[in-house]
This record gives sequence, structure tokens and C-alpha cells, in this order.
Amino acid sequence: MKLIPLGILGSGKGSNCRAILESIRSGALAAEVRVVISDVFDAPILDIAREFSIPNAYLTPGKFHTRLEPQAEAELVRMLREANVELVVLAGFMRILKSPMLEEFPRRIVNIHPSLLPKFPGLEAWRQALEAGEKITGCTVHYVDEQIDHGRVIGQREVPILPNDTPETLHARIQIAERELYPAVIAAFARKYQAS
Ligand code: GAR
Repeated sequence: MKLIPLGILGSGKGSNCRAILESIRSGALAAEVRVVISDVFDAPILDIAREFSIPNAYLTPGKFHTRLEPQAEAELVRMLREANVELVVLAGFMRILKSPMLEEFPRRIVNIHPSLLPKFPGLEAWRQALEAGEKITGCTVHYVDEQIDHGRVIGQREVPILPNDTPETLHARIQIAERELYPAVIAAFARKYQAS
């Protein structure tokens, strides 16, 4: 079977990465994670990669906080190319991608965000939704462009906001939806790849 080669990028705890790896292991997702890369040296997402025996790497991000230094972004392209990655999957990667990543992987970089975009881009989207008095929020998978949490929407899941929700309970409920949505969206890419 033809497996779509994925490269996963993350900065944090890696629950979406784990969901993707578990979905592959269960046979529901015809994909292969070639590499997991983090801009945070001790990010748990790298431990998850090791647990699943996936090649993994720390990418030194350089001096900026919200993006990679040009040299680091060139190195990221090199790593993903070397691993022959077809689809770049951002799973809690907290930096904006620019050139050369966007040119090298046109419409082949996707991101998951914990709100119903275009509502509440940026940090702690669940807290933003709660503070805005929303009754429903959710999560979105979208193509990545040069703006933060922006780009054509590929799939969304709604999540209700309950009267006693705290930011923590709401984020936990959104993350359950994320762990269903992301593997399902990637499975659609995998089907197209198989047919190509
Ligand atoms: C997820 O909730 C994801 O939607 C969010 O970071 C979390 C990563 O969790 N991403 C963004 O806010 C992107 N703007 P994880 O490390 O457990 O997958």
C-alpha cells in the first residue's frame, strides 16, 4: 500500500502527534511519519516520537520568538526534503512559517487550531472564545499561509461551551475533538495520494 509520508512539527505536549501515530498504528490512516521536528529542545512531542521509534530532531530556532531565523527555516526545508516528506503537519507548532517553507511546500502544509476559524486566531483560542461569551467553539484544520492561523479551511469540528467551563475544561474538550479531526483530515490527503 502507498503510504503518504508525513513530517510533523510541534512545540509542546504532542497529543495531536500521538493521535496521528495511533491512528496509523490502528490501520485507520495510510500514512508514515518520516520525522518529528521541534523548536523546543525538551518538548514532550519528541518523547512521543521516540516512544513510536520515529526519527526526531530539535531545530534550533534562532533569536526570534514568533518565527524561525532564515537559516533555521532553510535547515527545516533541508530536513523535510531529506525525509522525502509529502505533507507537513503542524501539531502545536507555535511559530509562523515564511519563505522558503511556504514556497517549497505549496498547499502541502496544514495546521490545527483550537477555534472555529476565522474566529479567534492566535494564542489560547479557547480562552478567547470563553471570554467572548460564545456558546459553541471548536477546532479547525487549514492550509498554512503567511498569516497566523489563516488559510483555506479544510475541516472543522464544533464543540459546545458549557455553563461551568473553565479555560482548562474547555481546552480539554476541544482537544478530544482535535484528536478525531486531524487524523480524519490527513486520511483524506492519504486517499488522494494513493490515487495519484
Ligand atoms: C492544540 O490545541 C492546537 O490546536 C494548538 O496547540 C495545541 C497543541 O497541543 N495550536 C494552536 O494554537 C496554533 N495556533 P498538542 O501539543 O497536545 O498537540
